[in-house]
Amino acid sequence: MSPEQIAEAMRNADPPLDSIFDRWLPQDLRSVSWQHWTPLHVAVRAAAWLDAARVKTVVDIGAGPGKFCVAAALAGDCEFTGLEHRPRLLTAARQLAQRFAVEDRVRFVQGALGEVPTPLADAYYLYNPFGENLFGSREHLDEEVDLGRERYERDIATIDTLLRQAPVGTYVLTYNGFGGKVPASYREVQIDCQLPNVLRLCRKVHRNATDRPSERQGICDVTTRVANAISGDPE
Ligand SMILES: C[S@@+](CC[C@H](N)C(=O)[O-])C[C@H]1O[C@@H](n2cnc3c(N)ncnc32)[C@H](O)[C@@H]1O
Repeated sequence: MSPEQIAEAMRNADPPLDSIFDRWLPQDLRSVSWQHWTPLHVAVRAAAWLDAARVKTVVDIGAGPGKFCVAAALAGDCEFTGLEHRPRLLTAARQLAQRFAVEDRVRFVQGALGEVPTPLADAYYLYNPFGENLFGSREHLDEEVDLGRERYERDIATIDTLLRQAPVGTYVLTYNGFGGKVPASYREVQIDCQLPNVLRLCRKVHRNATDRPSERQGICDVTTRVANAISGDPE
């Protein structure tokens, strides 16, 4: 399929196989897609939720080679900014956005979370971006960045602060969680437990300086919970 045909299928919420889309990624990034990049049908679902919530701007924290940003831009109307610390993934992401002609709505910022300003947005997307810190070295994407538990805990604390300081009305969309808990000032507005991992959309509904991590949980099937426990998702 050409990029134009893939774009039309995405717009019609009828995504092709991930392997068809992934052909437009560099060779070495295709084989890890199943583990590290958002599946197309998840991006389609996310785009529908974001459009229904009237979200205009989305930041993907840990954008990889841009698969989520590009796929969700094809499927919906939001503008996406991807933050990514690996330069070679940034290059791939910018090429992907050009190939699919969405560079007017999809841009990428190079840098590590907490070391460069996180762009402001109506919604933040997190596909378990920090889990790699806890993986064994054979499951690392590469050794170009420092990984480890200390960094994992720092990144989760940074997200916690970001979500607590965000204005009321901000959304956070997680796929397989992010390793921490969404603060209690957020309410779950959408959840899908039938996808390979849990997709959850929460909206900040009030300011509360003393809010604690939310104990609110959606009802998911046991298989998904077990899978998430293995992958480190506390959800
Ligand atoms: C699981 S992948 C998700 C990629 C993309 N969001 C998607 O869904 O297709 C996580 C990405 O986050 C990036 N990442 C992890 N920690 C980061 C940090 N502290 N700052 C910036 N990028 C980070 C990794 O390099 C990796 O590309």
